[in-house]
Amino acid sequence: MDSIYIYGGNFLRGETRIQGSKNAALPILAATLLVEGTCVIQNCPRITDVYHMQNLLQELGCRVSWKGSTVMVNAAGISDYRMAGESVTRMRSSIMLLGALLGRLGEAAMAYPGGCVIGRRPIDLHLSALKEMGVDITEQEQMFTARVKSLKGMDYRLPFPSVGATENVLLAAVLAEGTTVLHNAAREPEIEALCEFLMEAGADIRGAGSARLVIRGVRRLHEASYSVPADRIVAGTYLAAALAAGGSIFLEKAPSGQMKAVIGMAREMGSSVIANPEGIGVHAVRRMDACPYLKTDVYDGFPTDLQSPMMAALAVARGRSIIEENIFENRFRIVNDLKRMGADIRTADNRACIRGVEGLKGAEAWAQELRGGAALVVAGLAAEGLTVIRNRHYIERGYEDICKDMRRLGADIRSG
Ligand code: EPZ
Repeated sequence: MDSIYIYGGNFLRGETRIQGSKNAALPILAATLLVEGTCVIQNCPRITDVYHMQNLLQELGCRVSWKGSTVMVNAAGISDYRMAGESVTRMRSSIMLLGALLGRLGEAAMAYPGGCVIGRRPIDLHLSALKEMGVDITEQEQMFTARVKSLKGMDYRLPFPSVGATENVLLAAVLAEGTTVLHNAAREPEIEALCEFLMEAGADIRGAGSARLVIRGVRRLHEASYSVPADRIVAGTYLAAALAAGGSIFLEKAPSGQMKAVIGMAREMGSSVIANPEGIGVHAVRRMDACPYLKTDVYDGFPTDLQSPMMAALAVARGRSIIEENIFENRFRIVNDLKRMGADIRTADNRACIRGVEGLKGAEAWAQELRGGAALVVAGLAAEGLTVIRNRHYIERGYEDICKDMRRLGADIRSG
């Protein structure tokens, strides 16, 4: 149970539709706390991280309902500012509720969201920025309480363009007194989507998508509806599957405009990629060329979330590839699993050297986190024989139904 079974080697063919973005949906759901009414979020991915965010919102007194992939959140009657320990530590994105609760109620109490296998995941950048806006943080063991009489705008530079810290500042600033200028803000497309939703609800934000955000506080936000853009990381994962197993596929809705670095890498490996507003078409025959040097970076560099799926594709490419992971300190977790499948990978510090092999052999492997688990699916699709991936629940945090999508493309894959 809680597994995925793959008989690899099938050439992938056909088309599949890309779901709404997890990393856009989560901060937007948190942002609905700022509206004393109902917000309608369309194209929301049906994944466990979203269901978890739903539980947190309901714990705070929101009414949440679904119709297909549209979720309605009514935050008019939020009653509490405290979040129970377990429900917070289970999902890091709960930290985004901090900025929203401060913006709406002026206080929040929550557990420190834990780290995870890919890194310590501290929140120092979030807390330093919020303190600059007048927030007082008191810590007790694993919990902390944040309080502020009234949030003040600030002119502030983030030491690092943290996605989460940028989102928390946005959520605190939209109803603050005065204007906030945030320098060195993260530029990931998910930030732009959050800004679009907030502006739809009446926020005054300039510079969305740039490294300099100017947010002029307004008195209140109003009901809004918004459609979540497609998930560039899910699209990139499926592109990696075609590069690994060989494929001629079309990824409908894939946000090609947000995937330049990924598309560039796929072309460098020898695949032909057609990118247009409808999606991304990729044609790749076994074996692809290696990618001599791939480094992860903040947007619009190569996304860290696609490092593991691409490592699985490079494991069967022709030649030697070097991957440098610059965002998280422990994101080579699948190397041992890939080596047990026959990959030739050596790591030192934040670098992995991959010598592509003719083929991988199916094996039993344990997913330990979301994107590493997805990378094991990519490897299994290319491997000869049966691959069994345990801990499927990690993958379901971010992928609605990777088995259904891959079966639609001709893979011999099922969950069980
Ligand atoms: C978001 O995480 C994403 N999660 C991650 O996706 C993604 O990998 C990451 O951004 C980078 O793009 C969501 O959007 C829900 P960061 P976040 O703050 O906000 C350090 C996935 O698989 N840092 O930009 O946590 C941090 O330790 C997930 O979908 C601090 O030191 O990323 C990391 O090394 C995984 N102090 C680096 O910055 C802080 O206060 C990037 O973190 C905050 C971050």
